[in-house]
Amino acid sequence: MRIDRIRADGYKNLSDVDISPCPEVNLILGDNAQGKTNLIEAVWLCTGCRSFRGTRDKDFIGFEKEKSDISVDFSDNVRGQNISFSVRRGNIREKNITLNGVPVPLLSRLFGVLSCVVFTPEDLSIAKGAPEKRRSFVDLSASQIKHSFVWALNKYENVLSQRNALIKEISMGRGDVSQVEIWDEQLAAAGAYISVVRDTYIRNLSEYASMLYSELTRGNESLTLSYQSGVYRELEGSSDYAGELKDIYFKRLSECLQDDIRAGYTLTGVHRDDLGIFINGLPVREFGSQGQQRSAAIVLKTAQARLVAEQSGEAPVMLLDDVLSELDPSRQSFVLDNAHGMQVFITACDDAVMRRERRSSEIGVFGIRSGRLEEIRIG
Ligand SMILES: Nc1ncnc2c1ncn2[C@@H]1O[C@H](COP(=O)(O)OP(=O)(O)O)[C@@H](O)[C@H]1O
Ligand SMILES: [Mg+2]
Repeated sequence: MRIDRIRADGYKNLSDVDISPCPEVNLILGDNAQGKTNLIEAVWLCTGCRSFRGTRDKDFIGFEKEKSDISVDFSDNVRGQNISFSVRRGNIREKNITLNGVPVPLLSRLFGVLSCVVFTPEDLSIAKGAPEKRRSFVDLSASQIKHSFVWALNKYENVLSQRNALIKEISMGRGDVSQVEIWDEQLAAAGAYISVVRDTYIRNLSEYASMLYSELTRGNESLTLSYQSGVYRELEGSSDYAGELKDIYFKRLSECLQDDIRAGYTLTGVHRDDLGIFINGLPVREFGSQGQQRSAAIVLKTAQARLVAEQSGEAPVMLLDDVLSELDPSRQSFVLDNAHGMQVFITACDDAVMRRERRSSEIGVFGIRSGRLEEIRIG
């Protein structure tokens, strides 16, 4: 997958951006607060995902602008395509999104069309952060491969909030306990499916991650990943989500009902799952050094990209937002060497990374200042 052209105007501070990136490495250089992350975010929106830094829709449009327009041309092995995204002030709910000129009703419908992997300094703390971060990592990465997964996750969220509302009522002595089963049926169906998708994804990811981690540590340390489910003790590759696994899930919900009522919400389920990351058998979250935690993060991201490439047949575009400058030279090299064959966007404040990358045959260098981008000729 390769981005051929990016146009953006009015997305936050971006102004009249129109660049044709090179197929390999692209460096976006600029001081702080010039719009580097905004540019990466603009591209990211075209993958159909919500902003990786939680920007809300109302903040899409530049302070003094009337509208925000983004357009990305990209191509895979087969053909060239275009995604465009635009919103106007005063009507931010209505997003005009098109794929090859045809209107698309929802941002999430773009999922899987333009695949990118984004890596930011925040991701470096994935191994030690809250379980929620690891869950979103797994869910997002798994959705890149299995597009129907987004639907299951939404369904689960929906049913969970209805069940929680009912549990709350019951805990206050008002709701009808016999109604809980209706939600449990649906929660068990969605939850069992989510568990199977997560388990499968983590197994596949673990293979790459273990291999990459031993490469990074020259065989001195080993990394393993495991799915930590609060419902199933061991899935062992079982995939009968509509049968036995659903029944187990349902039973577990029933067993926990009294505790749930006491707590006033649903205590057990896939919304509490975690991704276990172990180095030499010990959980990194508790026992990993800062270096090990960073290495684990790098390896997870690299493995994610490999898996997308393997399963979709298209290498994703790597978006490395300000992350390389956070890493020591050997970890920088590891990330870049493993992105070989992928188109890469690197944002940074200075060109320290560029000096290393000059040996790369093709490199595009762009300077960004107050949201305006200009190609810098080198050589
Ligand atoms: N809605 C907006 N309209 C105009 N400018 C914005 C908006 N939101 C953020 N900005 C500006 O974007 C800049 C930060 O951009 P960012 O991409 O995070 O910078 P960096 O180059 O450090 O990654 C700040 O100057 C901020 O004022
Ligand atoms: Mg930034």
